Amino acid sequence: MSEPKHVVVIGAGPGGYPAAFYAADLGLRVTLIDPEENPGGTCLFRGCIPSKALLHVSSLLHEAREAQHWGVKLGEPQVDLDRLREWKDEVVENLTAGTGGLGKKRGVTHLRGMAQFTSSNSVDVDLVEGGKERVDFDYAILATGSRSVMIPGVPEGAEDRIWDSTKALELERVPRSLLVIGGGVIGLELGSVYSALGSQVSVVEMLPGLIPGADRDLVRVLEGTLKDRFKEILVKTKVAGMRKVRGGIEATLQAEDGSERVERYDRVLVSVGRRPNSENLGIENTHAQVDARGFVRVNQRMATSDPTLYAIGDLVGQPMLAHKATAEAKVAVEAILGQKGAAFDPACIPAVVYTDPEVAWCGLTETEAKEQQRNVKVVRFPWQASGRALAMARPDGMTKLIIDIETERVLGMGVVGKGAGELIAEGALAVEMAALASDLARTIHPHPTVSETVMEAAEVFYGHATHFFTPRKRK
Ligand code: FAD
Ligand code: NAI
Repeated sequence: MSEPKHVVVIGAGPGGYPAAFYAADLGLRVTLIDPEENPGGTCLFRGCIPSKALLHVSSLLHEAREAQHWGVKLGEPQVDLDRLREWKDEVVENLTAGTGGLGKKRGVTHLRGMAQFTSSNSVDVDLVEGGKERVDFDYAILATGSRSVMIPGVPEGAEDRIWDSTKALELERVPRSLLVIGGGVIGLELGSVYSALGSQVSVVEMLPGLIPGADRDLVRVLEGTLKDRFKEILVKTKVAGMRKVRGGIEATLQAEDGSERVERYDRVLVSVGRRPNSENLGIENTHAQVDARGFVRVNQRMATSDPTLYAIGDLVGQPMLAHKATAEAKVAVEAILGQKGAAFDPACIPAVVYTDPEVAWCGLTETEAKEQQRNVKVVRFPWQASGRALAMARPDGMTKLIIDIETERVLGMGVVGKGAGELIAEGALAVEMAALASDLARTIHPHPTVSETVMEAAEVFYGHATHFFTPRKRK
């Protein structure tokens, strides 16, 4: 029997470690290279997981404050920041110790260090413990992820007051005032955390609305809540300059019409996007190509222009999401094994903003349907009519479906509301399986759950949702 091929996976985030595990499961010899002791990458160590642990606590704080309306007096909750930080770190440690164990069980060799290509068949690894090691391979999967973009104009000596998401997640302190630059996913999730912990949060977003990419009607529901919780939300606004002042930062906020205002904040969180980690990888020593924005170019099989190199995850482009990276990982491994059908061609990639309420969408959005002049009907089911939403005191939600009028196929779904991130998986399945609205309408959903809003939204399409009145059209 011939020796199994050796695959080197560079980077152990939600792209790299699932690639390494899957390759090992399918019988390949695997070396996973990453500086951390255990697999996890940005997502598990500095992204998805710690942020969701803190968002869980934020939601608890809000519920405790709300409880008086339901006859429960808990008083103003007290936060022990040291214990909260410790708990968040424990969540990360537990999970990453688990991924480490799973790698070992599969026989994946984990090399701690930073890899650099010396050719299309070898990397030099700068080992964390010191020294260098050369590793030869048959195939490599690049999964080095991305890092935060910093805006220009950070005043000298003020670096500790101008945070990126990693710094904000360290939870060093709760600033009295926090300016969030960028009203996207990170800004709103971490802004929500700090607001719940007691910071006065202001958000500036250069575009006309928050979370570009999501339908406006979904975002409006979230905005309704955030307007109460944040000090202010300024759209069509940029930070034109920053100055270090006693204990904080003075920022010049510039509106689109050119008007300016100067405000002082204790800390600033910059969340204006992320860029791929494609530098210092020695890519120039291979035949792989990088585009003008730094993304490694790949085809549908996740193959670069170098026959031995594959690339996945944040490194290859938008959307920069953990589940997209993992799905691409599977394709890359199957392509390496020569499986003919291997291709990254999803019908949809769900997106979730884990704010309170959550915003989630998948497939075709209403905005895209309008831009593309698609023949669709958009149906909405308001959560005010959901027994479960009312019983949770969370009627601030909506479920919508974008349905092709001719074929009745579900092309997209959008949800805003508590737990929207869990609900969207049903929409993703429907879109991926080319389900019809009648499939959703006729699937018996458990009562009382907010999942019934998906079924009833589909019934709205036919004009007979039990809890939503649709006037009959005159013949
Ligand atoms: P990464 O997770 O970035 O992993 C890359 C790994 O490669 C890192 O460990 C890095 O150290 C290592 N590396 C880099 N260069 C080298 C080298 N030369 N040699 C060896 N190793 C190297 N996405 C979601 O889907 N849901 C969320 O809720 C979510 N929340 C987020 C919250 C925050 C605050 C942030 C910052 C991101 C969040 N994301 C979320 C995005 C998600 O983290 C990324 O999409 C995902 O981690 C990308 O996975 P990846 O494997 O491509 O890269
Ligand atoms: P983002 O792209 O989501 O949002 C950045 C926002 O900043 C945009 O609205 C943009 O218009 C705005 N902006 C850019 N430059 C600006 C400026 N100079 N002044 C004011 N506003 C400016 O990027 P973000 O929030 O940094 O997150 C990066 C990526 O991480 C996301 O795109 C997502 O892929 C991933 N992520 C995913 C999460 C999830 O799935 N729940 C959570 C957190 C991050």
